[in-house]
Amino acid sequence: MTTTVGIGLLGCGTVGASVADRLQRDRERIVERAGVSYCLRAIAIRDCMKRRPESLERELFTTAARAVADDPRVDVVVELIGGLDDAADLVERALRRGRHVVTANKDLIGTQGPQLRRIAESAGASLRYDAAVGGAVPVLRILEEALAGDEILRVTGVLNGTCTAILSAMEAGSSFEKALADAQRLGYAEADPSNDIAGIDAAHKLAIIAQTAFGAPLLSPQIPTKGIRGITQADVANARSRGLRTRLVASLERTAQGVRASVAPVVLPEDHEFARTQGVENAVQIDARAAGRLTLRGDGAGGSATASSVLGDIVAVLRTIAPAASILATA
Ligand SMILES: NC(=O)c1ccc[n+]([C@@H]2O[C@H](COP(=O)([O-])OP(=O)(O)OC[C@H]3O[C@@H](n4cnc5c(N)ncnc54)[C@H](OP(=O)(O)O)[C@@H]3O)[C@@H](O)[C@H]2O)c1
Repeated sequence: MTTTVGIGLLGCGTVGASVADRLQRDRERIVERAGVSYCLRAIAIRDCMKRRPESLERELFTTAARAVADDPRVDVVVELIGGLDDAADLVERALRRGRHVVTANKDLIGTQGPQLRRIAESAGASLRYDAAVGGAVPVLRILEEALAGDEILRVTGVLNGTCTAILSAMEAGSSFEKALADAQRLGYAEADPSNDIAGIDAAHKLAIIAQTAFGAPLLSPQIPTKGIRGITQADVANARSRGLRTRLVASLERTAQGVRASVAPVVLPEDHEFARTQGVENAVQIDARAAGRLTLRGDGAGGSATASSVLGDIVAVLRTIAPAASILATA
């Protein structure tokens, strides 16, 4: 008897399409790494008329997202819808039914992470969200695994590519409005960039880092947050004339009173690790008591980069299922 793990995908947009395509095309390599075979059972979407990657058969698609989360043939639900409305209900529903969940949804984990982890724990399911912070940059994995035996003192980072793209364009002479319009045209900013510009997106990511690094039940609305909307071309030009650059920096620190967190624009020397970020690039510094300072940088967004991290989580979940599957197979 062979066991095949069923995967259900919720969403097939920028990230979901890349994940689904790789699950189909790279099957042999993924199965070899995971130690168990899998089958993509269904993909929930909204619009049946949109073009999808050729590797995905039409029969896989459905607009019934709840049916995918409830499907008894689905063992792992991969949520790539985003936002809070439908995604929150679907993730909670899947976890309550004991399905393992992988998500890239920072809004969801930033605001409801501790509660969802409790639901997952009591249902005996895994909940993984490495792609929610840093895109392809494995910030959470380093905190959770490589530094598991160390004490994290501080984590700081440039975590929002939209703000970096706008600030870099302003350094090159653009007004805020033109820099934003260019970032949208180049795909660095979403159609509605308000969460990015207001620093809310970075606050979601910082809350998730705090939950992981310090086990703190910190939620993003509790973090003092200032975005980049008030920064003018004159501010940026003035800083540049003094050899300084402005970046939106998220900071988290362990203190005697607990955890201190904030998101705000910071003026930095131009050779600083954070000042050198461009476009979607993220940079994160972790200070740990024994390891000292680690610096991570790489693409913090984009379908392919984010899909790499989602697939890493899927393989990690499949590996936890593999031993049980092999016992069943030899029984
Ligand atoms: N894009 C990035 O670079 C990036 C980076 C890091 C993390 N993330 C996170 O990854 C997640 C996905 O982002 P994305 O950029 O891939 O989003 P997206 O391009 O907007 O795709 C969303 C997908 O969800 C589907 N969808 C929306 N509502 C649905 C519903 N009620 N039922 C079924 N399907 C529904 C859409 O269907 P249709 O295709 O039919 O419209 C679409 O396929 C988000 O949580 C985001 O924050 C994204």
